[in-house]
Parts: sequence; C-alpha cells; structure tokens
Amino acid sequence: MLDLSPKSGELEAIETASRDEISALQLDRMKWSIAHAYNNVAHYKQSFDAAGVHPDDLKSLADLAKFPFTLKQDLRDNYPFSMFAVPRSDVVRIHASSGTTGQPTVVGYTQKDIDMWADVMARCLRASGLRKGDVLQNAYGYGLFTGGLGVHGGAEKMGLTVVPVSGGMTERQVRLIEDFEASGITVTPSYMLSILDEYRKQGRDPRKSPLKVGIFGAEPWTNSMRMEIEEAFDMHAVDIYGLSEVMGPGVANECVESKDGLHIWEDHFYPEVIDPISGEVLPDGESGELVFTSLTKEAFPIIRYRTRDLTRLLAGTARSMRRMEKITGRSDDMMILRGVNVFPTQIEEQVLRVDDLATHFQVELTNKERMDHMIVHVEKLENTSDVAAGGKLAELIKANIGISAEIQVGEPGSVARSQGKAVRIVDNRKGES
Ligand code: DLL
Repeated sequence: MLDLSPKSGELEAIETASRDEISALQLDRMKWSIAHAYNNVAHYKQSFDAAGVHPDDLKSLADLAKFPFTLKQDLRDNYPFSMFAVPRSDVVRIHASSGTTGQPTVVGYTQKDIDMWADVMARCLRASGLRKGDVLQNAYGYGLFTGGLGVHGGAEKMGLTVVPVSGGMTERQVRLIEDFEASGITVTPSYMLSILDEYRKQGRDPRKSPLKVGIFGAEPWTNSMRMEIEEAFDMHAVDIYGLSEVMGPGVANECVESKDGLHIWEDHFYPEVIDPISGEVLPDGESGELVFTSLTKEAFPIIRYRTRDLTRLLAGTARSMRRMEKITGRSDDMMILRGVNVFPTQIEEQVLRVDDLATHFQVELTNKERMDHMIVHVEKLENTSDVAAGGKLAELIKANIGISAEIQVGEPGSVARSQGKAVRIVDNRKGES
C-alpha cells in the first residue's frame, strides 16, 4: 500500500495545537453556542429553565455536565423547523432522516455552517490521504441523507475531482472507478463489499484497481473488515464518522498513517462519554454512550445530544485532538440473548474468520420455545461445502461470544444487499415491530 502520510506544513494549525489551546478555544465557543441555543430556540430555553441552569453557569468545560441532554425525541417533537436558531430564510439547506421509524428529524444549515462542514470534511479527506488533484468516487447517497452532499462539499473545497455517482448501479461503479482512475472512494463498508463482488463478477482484479484509499462510515464496521477490504483492494481503509443531528459526515475521521481510532474535530464538536443508565460523564478511556455539543453551528445548534453510539474517548496521537475508538454499535442495535449482550459487529468478526463464507451477513431474531432465538444468515462462496462452514461459524460464535446461534448458509447472493447502510438485524419476534 502507498504511504499517504501528510507532509510537514500540510496540516491546519489547530490539528497540532496544544491541549490548552484547544480547551481555551472550546470554552469560548461553547459559551457562545449554549447562549445562542438558549436565546433562539424555545426548546432549549424551556429545558435549561426546567433544569435550573442558565448559560452564565458555564464557567468551565466541565460545567457542561449541568446542562440537560437533547434526545432524538426532542427533535421529533419540534418537527419540522422549531429547533432552528435562525430565521428560516437564513437556512440554505435542509437534510432529514428517512422517517421510516416514525416522524423524520430535520436539520438545517446556514451558508456559514455549510462552509464549516466543507472545511472539516476536507480535513477528513486529507487525513485519509487524499490530495488536490485526486479523483474521488463519492458513492454515498445524495439527497436528504447527509452522506453524499456532505462529502461532496469537502471534496470540492480541497480541490479533488469529485465523481458524484451516489449509491447503486454497482456495475457502473466499477466501470467509473476504472475509467476515471479514482484514487479514493467514499461509501458504506457494506456496499464496498458489493462493489468487490462486482469486480470479481467482471473478472477484474480488485488489487489492480486505481484505488489508494476507501473512506468508510455511516454504519459500524470492524477492524477485521478493514483487513478484508485492504487485502482485497490493496488499498487503505479508514473510518469516517458523523451524524445528521451534529452535522453529517466529518465529525471524526481516522488518520491514514495511524488507523488507531477516529480523531474528533474538537474545535467544532465537543464530545463527552456518559454512562447510558445514570447519565453521568465518564472519564476518558471508559466506554459508554457518545454525546455531542456543537460549538460553532448557527442554524441548528445541538447541546449534549445523546447519539446512542457506544465508544470511548482516547488521547490524540496523529493529531492533538482526542480520538474515539471504532464504534462497537448503537445501544438500539444491542441484542440480548439469554442474558448475553450481542452487537452485529461481534457477529461480523466471526463471519470474517470462516474462509468458505462470503462477507455478507444478516441476523434474524425469532422466538423458539418462548425464548429469543438468533439465526445468522450467511452465504457460501462458490464451490465450497456449506455444511462445514456453517458448523464452523456456530462454533466460533459459541466460543467467542458465548451464545448459541442457528446458522443458515444460503447460495451466493442470498443475503439482502443494501446500497447504503446495511440492515444487520431483522426482528421477527412476536410482539416486536
Ligand atoms: O450516517 C453520516 C455519515 C455519512 C457518516 C457518511 C459517515 C459517512 P446519519 O444517517 O444521521 O448520518 O446516521 C448517523 O450512523 O449515529 C452512527 O450510529 C452511524 N455511524 C455513522 N458513522 C459511523 C461509523 C450519517 N464510522 C449514525 N461507525 C450514527 C459506526 C457510524 N457507526
């Protein structure tokens, strides 16, 4: 793989600033953001007043813990525009969640917000090893989802040649990577596996592709998956994180030279990790739920937003800003089987250990004899013995996760594919949605 490390002088000053400088900037900006939210969004005024706190109570970064959390439900209750802190006419862009599980959540941006987003997103692309002149195939979905347009803004800002292909049409994805000599691709890791299948179907060697780096996010994926993709394409695979409520893609990104967790762009997004039950702030290094406060956003300031994503905060390495460990999963995706907590990422790790199985999988939950039961749907590779591979996976899951799962090994192509975020869990338990 090529060395894509940054050369001296390529980083922004803030990326190598001292912790004291970063904290001072954060406190200034946090004071502004908390007051901006309180003065301009009825929801924040009510919730701060109800908790008996006022923006003037914020004297140190630790004082943030006095302020109430914001939940997804708060955004739903304020549908569509009541969380905006600027007049609607100053909002130049809207994004929204799909709303498949209820009221959609809507977020908005002023022009200044869009510029800031492009700046941090460009920082992510640079941290991933791309430079002006590189061709970037952007296969995140364009539309109300923040992935496509979010990456696009950063790519143009740093002078990449962006190919706005969006998700889907997998055969064309391969053709464009090859014909346009894309050196970078931004896409969900699960859809990258479909692109890999397509390379093989077309009889092309993925290791000979022009790709130098893939920037994967929008869903949890493991280091085992990283190794699988890096080996298959002979390219770097780095992790990008973000969420619409906080901005979109580009809240945090791995550095290609270290690949040791995602540096959070703390000059714009202040992270905390809390105990999800008690809500107490945990010290760095301890695992819990990630919470974000925006420091500079105008249209949609967000204060102590509970992401449901589980991780821990670690000291900076390749940059001075703190890292978050690769996300284990969302608390919503945690399955409990006979008392054992299981995340889809744990299943992914085991699937990748069985050579005769493809990398695609889906977990189905059912009831069997009134107990929760897990079926893992996987696929055999061409010309392999499905029986042996299924048995091997069941053993690995039992030995490493401690649960008994039924394995159903289907024909190649039998596991549902997605062109964006993979659906890892299908809940067919009676009484469940
Ligand atoms: O998925 C933004 C994004 C687009 C990030 C493209 C990266 C690349 P939402 O649709 O609002 O926004 O979903 C946000 O996706 O709370 C996580 O649960 C999950 N997620 C995003 N990135 C990662 C990641 C976009 N790198 C939700 N690892 C978040 C694990 C991720 N989960």
